[in-house]
Amino acid sequence: MSDILSVALPKGRLGERAYSIFERAGFGCAEIHENSRKLIFDDEIRGIRYFWAKPSDVASYVEYGAADVGVAGLDVLLEQKPEVFELLDLHLGQCAMAVAGRARALDSRGETLKVATKFPNVALRHFSEQGREIEVIKLHGSIELAPLVGLSDVIVDIVETGKTLRENGLEVLETIFDISSRLIVNKAAFRFKNERVLELCRKLEMELAREEKIDD
Ligand code: PRP
Repeated sequence: MSDILSVALPKGRLGERAYSIFERAGFGCAEIHENSRKLIFDDEIRGIRYFWAKPSDVASYVEYGAADVGVAGLDVLLEQKPEVFELLDLHLGQCAMAVAGRARALDSRGETLKVATKFPNVALRHFSEQGREIEVIKLHGSIELAPLVGLSDVIVDIVETGKTLRENGLEVLETIFDISSRLIVNKAAFRFKNERVLELCRKLEMELAREEKIDD
């Protein structure tokens, strides 16, 4: 393995916020600010490589070692259960995983509950802990539509401000867990690039603590 530390960032606003913490912690990459469609950015002097991946794919890049570290939401981690180590809570992208639907949609026990979601494993685990049988309908977006048009009884989805639910006459029925972005590391990279990974982790932690102080 080379000495370059490769970092998979989630494409989008969250990834940009994550990158800016890396930058302030001393792991910047001048090129990355260029407005282009390039996906990979190297800073040879700092020995760091960044690439932008679809948020739900970041954990795969890290698990298979194509990236040493990455930034992934707890929603993706608990859905995919990748074989990676979780190092740090970056406190970004805070939201919650919830069961939502029309009021009382969970009341009719006995029948198999139809659950629409992008997170089938999370949904199955949550309801099996309650001993409740469900049928999962896997969707890829606009999940709130499903109970409105009779595709499902409820949804398991991410709730951030709650605005999408409110504007569609739906509500949170159960909160499953709180979500934030985590720094994850490939298991082999953690062993073979241990010093670099720990240095990154320590400096990110210091930067987060500094920002928290400023906010107080
Ligand atoms: C997410 C989530 C909800 C919405 C919640 O969707 O799936 O639909 O955000 O945000 P709110 O509580 O602030 O309204 P996203 O915007 O990622 O798009 P998607 O519908 O394609 O999944």
